[in-house]
Amino acid sequence: MEQRTDAVTTTMDDIRRIEAEHLDDDGIVTRPGVEAIRDRLLALAAQRDLFPIGDFVPPGDEDERTSYLYRLAQDPDDRFALYAQSSRGSVSTPVHNHTTWAVVVGFEGRELNRFFDRSPDGVTKTHEHMVEAGTGVAMRPDDLHSIHIDGRALNFHCYGLALERLDEREYYNPVSRTWKIFSNVSGIREARLGLQSC
Ligand SMILES: [Fe+2]
Repeated sequence: MEQRTDAVTTTMDDIRRIEAEHLDDDGIVTRPGVEAIRDRLLALAAQRDLFPIGDFVPPGDEDERTSYLYRLAQDPDDRFALYAQSSRGSVSTPVHNHTTWAVVVGFEGRELNRFFDRSPDGVTKTHEHMVEAGTGVAMRPDDLHSIHIDGRALNFHCYGLALERLDEREYYNPVSRTWKIFSNVSGIREARLGLQSC
């Protein structure tokens, strides 16, 4: 646990530095910057012994939720948040943005990421990437994706600002053909040393 804490702390220190070195004129991390953050997280995820699956239990069959988020890091000002998402399957999100940079890195199982552009009649798919161990995806604040998981999976999700603070994320409702505010974050589980919830 202490080794994990040290490795996560070092990783987040590096990510803070990477972000600071890759800002555009508007103060937003560049695409090479967020891709470098993804690569740094891939190096963390490669230290597989630090993340025993049993520490990140997914919801049981009786739980209406199909995935839990475990918080691994978050700055006092809520920037630079890292979570492990543990899923038992049947996870599917609508198309959404993040309003901050976002990175997903695989560890166990498979998480399909589909990417989209806004179009006059809603959204248009541009490409997709299957996130699994050794691979990841990197998004700038306005990038759009959806995620789809069948079966058990454990992935790392990292954001420039904690999910609880992302209260202006948008998702696309294909039925009403409108953009709405995405507020699906609740029940984040604490996984930082000394802060674990029961
Ligand atoms: Fe997302």
